[in-house]
Amino acid sequence: MPTLERISVALEARSYDVVIGTGLLEQAGALIDQAFGRPRRAVIVTDETVARHQLPRLLQGLGQPAAVITIPTGEGAKSWATLQQVVDQLLALPADRGTVVVALGGGVVGDLAGFAAAITLRGLDVVQIPTTLLSQVDSSVGGKTAINTSAGKNLVGAFHQPSLVLADIECLQTLPMRERRAGYAEAVKHAALADAPFMDWLEQHGVRALEGDADTLARIVSHSVATKAAIVAADEREADRRALLNLGHTFGHALEAETGFSDRLLHGEAVAIGIGLAFDLSHHLLGCPASDAARVRQHFAAVGLPTRISDVPGAPFDADRLIAHMAHDKKTADGKLTFILADRLGAARVVKAVDPVAVRHVLVS
Ligand code: GLY
Repeated sequence: MPTLERISVALEARSYDVVIGTGLLEQAGALIDQAFGRPRRAVIVTDETVARHQLPRLLQGLGQPAAVITIPTGEGAKSWATLQQVVDQLLALPADRGTVVVALGGGVVGDLAGFAAAITLRGLDVVQIPTTLLSQVDSSVGGKTAINTSAGKNLVGAFHQPSLVLADIECLQTLPMRERRAGYAEAVKHAALADAPFMDWLEQHGVRALEGDADTLARIVSHSVATKAAIVAADEREADRRALLNLGHTFGHALEAETGFSDRLLHGEAVAIGIGLAFDLSHHLLGCPASDAARVRQHFAAVGLPTRISDVPGAPFDADRLIAHMAHDKKTADGKLTFILADRLGAARVVKAVDPVAVRHVLVS
């Protein structure tokens, strides 16, 4: 049984803890009261799927009645329409400044509920309870919230730090294997960008984690959260260092855009392919050893993740179309592409004004 672990995200007055362990939903009421120093009225925002699996545990663990706002499952809920419904429902309760929004779900619920909390009454407190591996290792920590619009993914949102994050490893037991793998790709990202010894550890233990071993999953979540917490504490609003967390994402987002942000390619799967391509580009432009690209791909393949564009249903894709998608990346400045590249595995940096010819070269190689 994993022990309960606390990692602090140090942001002065907006500092908060990420608690990692099992049975956290059952203790949620006590943990939330402790974080705020007094009992708070909770409103849960969740989706239809998570409501079936986890809501009874949370309602019991809160120890007080809580209103529940349920949104549809899936990326489509990160929309103006669903945002409006959630805000309207919060106002109709009515929520007040003493209300805490509890986001119970994966990245979609966390992003949408976090954004609704950020704008309702000019800012309600939010507690994130991530229920997927992806949201536990990455999206629930750091305060990014957003919806998608016709112009692109995550283009409307706010930085709104949670007051507490509860990463209950038990929630991962009901997660489909494909989603567990997709979340795992973001843990490998943390190793590949800043922590080569963690990569060694993942190579030894990753398969066991994906089989559902709670201790191993807890170590992966805590190591990833510690890496991310340090980066967010140093650069909350992504002025420089936080951009490193986008390793593999410029390639990944282009592939997601080309496949219509659909089940054909999950975000984490796109990130896995993107990390391999980022190491290819790092080899081409920075002299990063070619063996590092081979190593990340070998590990992704060992855990059942896609590693090449040719693994994506519908491939091949036109390289110029992929590059055109990259122009919409939020890191693009003055029309020039920015990439997160690595001098070697575990040592990433931001590289600006990358020549599209070099990008094309790795896409067609
Ligand atoms: N997922 C990247 C970030 O939070 O900055």
